[in-house]
Amino acid sequence: MVTIGIIGAGEVGSNIARAAIANGYQVVIANSRGPDTLSELVETLGPSARAATAEGAAAAGDIVVVAVPLKVINDMPVAALAGKVVIDTNNYMVWRDGHIPVIDSGEKTVHELRQEHLPTSKVVKAFTHIQALRINTWGRPAGSPERLALSVSSDFPEAVQWVTRLYDQFGFDTVDNSPLSESWRSAPGQPAWKQERQPRLELAANLAGAVAKNPGPR
Ligand SMILES: NC(=O)c1ccc[n+]([C@@H]2O[C@H](COP(=O)([O-])OP(=O)(O)OC[C@H]3O[C@@H](n4cnc5c(N)ncnc54)[C@H](OP(=O)(O)O)[C@@H]3O)[C@@H](O)[C@H]2O)c1
Repeated sequence: MVTIGIIGAGEVGSNIARAAIANGYQVVIANSRGPDTLSELVETLGPSARAATAEGAAAAGDIVVVAVPLKVINDMPVAALAGKVVIDTNNYMVWRDGHIPVIDSGEKTVHELRQEHLPTSKVVKAFTHIQALRINTWGRPAGSPERLALSVSSDFPEAVQWVTRLYDQFGFDTVDNSPLSESWRSAPGQPAWKQERQPRLELAANLAGAVAKNPGPR
């Protein structure tokens, strides 16, 4: 039985939890306010879910989803995430996150910065250009003409494989947009982010057609 730790129990964290449980995974989910505040969500998710602290979810997960906006100063449990694949769903939003100069200048992508925060983990960007609720409604079986694709970026092939498996189980094809230095191609404002319904070839074309903003979020 594979356990997915999920740090962040908002729109993305709770919807990935639902999709994971529907596909036979155990889920240990956390927010910033503590497990007691998650009893309603855990009840909705059912017996395959339990709540924990962020450190507890990180420790329990065979892989871990971080569905929390990136902060300039790391707020994720580095030691508990060591050696693990960490799926980062974060989109950088200046209106919400404030300016992060190394990202604005194009020196680093958001996800390279997350990788720097978690140097002993295998960070992978995923689930960033689909609205959270649609993770559970837009999936289609492999081979379906309506099947859509999602992108993935990582410096670690093992992490790309994990995400590819999850996407497939949730009903999506994968377009590999690795490494993390290329992950700006699916960032907010780029064609792959703006246009949500993208079959595989269209997503690949949109990623290739991304225009770097330098300075500007990459
Ligand atoms: N919403 C979407 O459709 C969507 C789609 C793709 C990507 N994204 C991106 O994914 C990320 C998460 O988005 P969201 O919409 O799910 O956000 P959200 O609904 O605001 O939820 C954020 C969650 O993170 C938790 N959190 C914040 N800091 C934490 C910490 N230090 N430790 C543990 N938990 C912490 C919050 O807990 P508390 O409530 O207890 O503070 C909350 O459960 C964002 O970067 C967003 O841009 C969102």
